[in-house]
Amino acid sequence: MQRILITGATGQIGSELTLALRKKYGGENVIAAGHTHQPDRELSESGPCCTLDVRDITALQSTVAEYRIDTIFHLASLLSAVAEAKPQLAWDININGLINVLETARIHHCAVFFPSSIGAFGPLTPAENTPQDTIQHPTTMYGITKVSGELLCDYYQHRFGVDTRGVRFPGLISWKTLPGGGTTDYAVHIFHAALKDGRYDCFLKPDTRLDMMYMPDAVKAAIELMETDSKQLIHRNGFNVTAMSFAPRDIAAEIKKHIPGFAISYTIDPVRQAIAESWPRHMDDSAARNEWGWKLEYDLPAMVKDMLEKLSNKFKIAKANGAEKN
Ligand code: SER
Repeated sequence: MQRILITGATGQIGSELTLALRKKYGGENVIAAGHTHQPDRELSESGPCCTLDVRDITALQSTVAEYRIDTIFHLASLLSAVAEAKPQLAWDININGLINVLETARIHHCAVFFPSSIGAFGPLTPAENTPQDTIQHPTTMYGITKVSGELLCDYYQHRFGVDTRGVRFPGLISWKTLPGGGTTDYAVHIFHAALKDGRYDCFLKPDTRLDMMYMPDAVKAAIELMETDSKQLIHRNGFNVTAMSFAPRDIAAEIKKHIPGFAISYTIDPVRQAIAESWPRHMDDSAARNEWGWKLEYDLPAMVKDMLEKLSNKFKIAKANGAEKN
């Protein structure tokens, strides 16, 4: 990895992964490509940024050629709840965008990181200790695009020798950039609401348990997998990775330890509840541990403590900046 392109760089994962890669590989060597959102100051001042719609293969290929890219982290994608509302658009972005990236990688000899998801599983999958290789059969458009994405990446690897790699991320929790329309977003919104209002109205039932991960671990997983010697890998794409497994009532109890007056209520969104119920509760990530040394750093108590610290700091800075302007 020397010259890196990140699609979806202004999104929830991209905004943090880009900065981590720039720190490691040099700001000028990591190109942040976004589409719907403008890069924030930190992103635009730390290295090159460009606007790119992954559905435009000509623009994608000229960006890769212009910057002499050798590795693409392809993060541009619609999340589960938005994909359910706009299934045709989700197919277009998630699948046609990926094919364009894979074709570009084949022609320009790039490696590709593709984030799959717990959404690549379905109701027929064993929900506890979900094996690495098992029944997938998702029932959402998001899941269909993710399982197809894993297969396409495997296909480009064995058919054309493209170095594709990827993980199945669980719900990702971060303080920097909000997620955009996923089923696990409640686990981010709950922190904003706890700090601002002292209460949160959750759209999933109290006992809906899902795999989750704090963003620093997700960034670490993506980078470490791409840095692994390919000879070590038996699988290539769709590695199960997880850091914790909890339900809304568990995270609420953990937040209460820091904000004793915090209260949670529940108004269920049937669409997102049904999506969550079709996903695993806890994945077995031993293949990732054994093949490339995946190891978590943040469990539930460590994540909650750090999230509350970082987010309240962010709110204080925003308030101070707002006060300065007035
Ligand atoms: N966080 C994603 C979503 O909820 C799952 O990968 O859509």
